[in-house]
Amino acid sequence: KKRLKDVNITGKRVLVRVDFNVPIDEQGNIEDDTRIRASLPTIEYLLDAKAKVILMSHLGRPKGRDSKYSLSPVAKRLSRYINKDVIMADDCIGPSVKALVEKMKEGDVLLLENLRFHKEEEENDEEFAKELASLGEIYVSDAFGTCHRKHASVYTVPKILKPAVMGFLLEKEISYFEKAMVNPQRPVVAILGGVKVSSKIGIIKNLLKRVDKIFVGGAMAFTFIKAMGYSVGNSIVEDGYIETAKDIMEVARKLGVKFYLPVDFLLGRELSNNTPTRLVPWQEIPQGWMGLDIGPVSIALLREIVSDAQTIIWNGPMGAFELDRFEDGTYETAKILANSSALTIAGGGDTDHAIHRAGVYNSIDFVSTGGGAFLELLEGNTLPCIEVLDNSEE
Ligand code: 3PG
Repeated sequence: KKRLKDVNITGKRVLVRVDFNVPIDEQGNIEDDTRIRASLPTIEYLLDAKAKVILMSHLGRPKGRDSKYSLSPVAKRLSRYINKDVIMADDCIGPSVKALVEKMKEGDVLLLENLRFHKEEEENDEEFAKELASLGEIYVSDAFGTCHRKHASVYTVPKILKPAVMGFLLEKEISYFEKAMVNPQRPVVAILGGVKVSSKIGIIKNLLKRVDKIFVGGAMAFTFIKAMGYSVGNSIVEDGYIETAKDIMEVARKLGVKFYLPVDFLLGRELSNNTPTRLVPWQEIPQGWMGLDIGPVSIALLREIVSDAQTIIWNGPMGAFELDRFEDGTYETAKILANSSALTIAGGGDTDHAIHRAGVYNSIDFVSTGGGAFLELLEGNTLPCIEVLDNSEE
């Protein structure tokens, strides 16, 4: 793909699609600004080159215009990081926005209001895309987290406004992903968690072709354990996927990929912090109890599994980490990555959240800013909004 470094941007109006879809609480405070910070290299580069920087993003899933979903808290936070004013537009298209853009000077930063205040964004409307495109002279895509969505600003604008190139965050996401999945240093270990096997089948199948070992934790593990003929008590199981689970284990065996499941579980009577708990080996989950976290022996096993790894890929929590009582498995997994000398890559919404809460964000080589977009890549799919960007040979 064509790189931002290859285009002359000085004095130009550069329209940058970022993913500023950050969690904001009821009082309008930003709870996690990782995605804003992740876009700074691109924004600062554009400012250094004296471009006119027009930023656009969605925030949340509003139904039409709704001040709760305004990007203005983001403008304030960004302004602190870049140490200069960020002009906040009250819309993303229309005459008032055009007027603001016309007044921009070199080195100015303008943030357009939430793209999803117009339903045309998600409908991928051509006219809406043209209006957005008319604001800039160069398009930069840095919205990795949105690259799986065929929405107007991220899918159609780059087809209209040329050149359309990747920003530095996008480059970084792709390059780490390739290091881990395309040309990895071996052995490669994948650690997968989460509740549903059904939502991760494509990922498991793709990983089986690429990794040397795979550890499946989280509630997903119970469908596999049941497929092996053991009782899982009241743990979450997807009965419709027992056969799929058997197939997956069979494919792993044929491919020579080592397939591991947890060997002990912390059980509860119900999903609550106040429930009584028990720690048991995996084959001994009694009726009336459900597995809510992996146990300490599983953690020790995981440590052993990754001890010779050169590359570790992690997605999905190991247990119900939203409850303090059942957070250890997930946090210990985060720490295993943090303490490993392998190349460590993690991603997915919950995983990112867990890594922050475990306090090891800076010790993991790369935590993707993508949720759904990262999962698409893990599944071996291409991202449509990257496909539409210019190629370097053009
Ligand atoms: C995300 O947070 O995964 C992206 O910003 C996309 O948001 P969406 O799932 O609401 O399309």
